[in-house]
Amino acid sequence: METKLTNLVLLAEAEIKKCKTINELLDIKAKYLGKKSEFNVLMQDMKNLPNDQKPLVGKLINEAKSKISALLDLQKEIIDATKINEMLKAQTIDISLPGKSINLGHKHILTKTVEEIEDIFIGLGYEVKEGPEVESDLYNFEMLNLPKDHPAREMQDSFYITEETLLRTHTSPVQVRSLLANADHKPLKIICPGVVYRKDDDDQTHSHQFMQIEVLVVDEKATLADLKGTLLLLAKKLFGENREIRLRPSYFPFTEPSVEVDVSCFKCNGVGCSMCKNTGWIEILGAGMVNNNVLKAAGYDPEVYQGFALGMGIERIAMLKYGIDDIRLLYTNDLRFNSQF
Ligand code: DAH
Repeated sequence: METKLTNLVLLAEAEIKKCKTINELLDIKAKYLGKKSEFNVLMQDMKNLPNDQKPLVGKLINEAKSKISALLDLQKEIIDATKINEMLKAQTIDISLPGKSINLGHKHILTKTVEEIEDIFIGLGYEVKEGPEVESDLYNFEMLNLPKDHPAREMQDSFYITEETLLRTHTSPVQVRSLLANADHKPLKIICPGVVYRKDDDDQTHSHQFMQIEVLVVDEKATLADLKGTLLLLAKKLFGENREIRLRPSYFPFTEPSVEVDVSCFKCNGVGCSMCKNTGWIEILGAGMVNNNVLKAAGYDPEVYQGFALGMGIERIAMLKYGIDDIRLLYTNDLRFNSQF
């Protein structure tokens, strides 16, 4: 009996080792350990054995079955490992192959221009402030010395949402918000970039949506000379070291006196060309000393505080700097245009 069992185990071992797949292994398992296996026949035959031999034979049969079971487990592990190795081999990455290049975009020219101007002012100790694009009539006009019936409101055709709210027509309301937020009247030096809206028909030089940057300084001693120095520095940083500026008297309700600022033409160096319409000068922005009424409305005593402000259109600056002749190009997202900058 013992030899018979040993041979059975040897036979099973040989067959198990030949198995290459789990299915083959399952067949062998059924053959040796299943209901119709030889072990089962032996077990059934046990009832014919004398009683004293039964325990020993039972033990030998169980031992042989355990050995086959262990062999099956071992072979299963081998099959599984082989399968994983084959999969890994098939999936190896050839690191010598050239990679796929990912096209990273770049910043839009308007964003670049805003950041360039922000950097100039941050370097001078200014803080960047933002305000909402949906603004109240109070901040957009009234507190900037533009009461309801003021004729200068017509300079800015507005998109009203309700009678008291509108899409802001300029970044100047951020002046009001910042003055009000600065309750203890500490010296204020801010720059406020943002999108503004006007009810204009879009054409080569107009867009119903555009961008501005507002600059405001309020303290006890800011003068027109400080404004001039700031403007000259801005002009040089934006358009080149050799630039000069020229101030012309102008009118804005929120500044008094108000000026229009021209920069000497950077194309012809002031001689006269098509860019400067033969004047040698290019208008770049509006500015002035903060109107006393604006200071008062925000709770500042104009006998103690004074300041200057300026506002510029980003599109105009970018168009001048990069020689762009149609504002709509900045808003139509044509990659052939955008990727040039
Ligand atoms: N808010 C004016 C506009 O949109 C621009 C402006 C002019 C802003 C003079 C200022 C300023 O702060 O002092 O036309």
